Amino acid sequence: MGTVGIKSKVQDSVEYIRKFTKSTPQISIVLGTGMYSLADLLEDVISVDYSKIPHFPTSTVESHKSKLIFGRLNGIDVVLTAGRFHYYEGYSMEEVTYYIHVLKSLGVNTSILTSASGGLNPHYREGELVMITDHINLFSENPLRGQNDDELGPRFPDMLNSYPSELRDIAVKVSKNLNIPLKEGIYLGWQGPSLETPAEYKMANLLGADLVGMSTIPEVIINKYRDIKTLAFSIVSNVCYPPSAITETTINEVIEVVNNNAKQLQKLVFALIKKI
Ligand code: HPA
Repeated sequence: MGTVGIKSKVQDSVEYIRKFTKSTPQISIVLGTGMYSLADLLEDVISVDYSKIPHFPTSTVESHKSKLIFGRLNGIDVVLTAGRFHYYEGYSMEEVTYYIHVLKSLGVNTSILTSASGGLNPHYREGELVMITDHINLFSENPLRGQNDDELGPRFPDMLNSYPSELRDIAVKVSKNLNIPLKEGIYLGWQGPSLETPAEYKMANLLGADLVGMSTIPEVIINKYRDIKTLAFSIVSNVCYPPSAITETTINEVIEVVNNNAKQLQKLVFALIKKI
């Protein structure tokens, strides 16, 4: 538990990945539910299966593939994580966030996170694209719980500016240039996998959240800890507030809404990558 002991594992993982690529991407793009098509835009692709990388957990959720994909996007070297590790799958928080330490060792200093989420802001519509500006962490466990390796990051990471405003400002400019509507909002995360009751959605709204989801936050904490800048985008897959607007939601509907609206996010990320 904690980050003590991670360095030697990361060395093993990196050594294996280096058999396939010498790439040193500075930007990672973490593909959330239904976002896999972003990988289609990559050139000079080299994929490495998670299952073969020493110490990597294997993603168990069907809607995700399970590999690191290296390539160039709009001329820039990037690494995509196709398949994310969620706490609700039964992984420990260390497993959920392990990949970040590996990517940091490969050269990553900026991470673009994508996700699907429930919309709590009554002005949000299904399929809308939202940039996360801050979060409320209601996960039951923190990925940094345990003994800390001070060489990796501070014992008590500050969480101010976890979604750096200088990057968000660039994203807003790029979205305006492309005429892509981009809302902004606060993401509340907890473990799932059950969705929320109407009373819980109402509580999350009362707490000040605009979005609710089951990912992102553990990764943002480790990004901050490892000095990796985060940009996070979420597609509203289902409207959760006001309570009268809530309808039954299945994973297939979530994936369908994201698939139908992922093009806008792809366009934004494609253009943005050159500016950050
Ligand atoms: N709740 C939590 N996570 C989600 C939701 C939701 O309604 N929709 C997509 N991810």
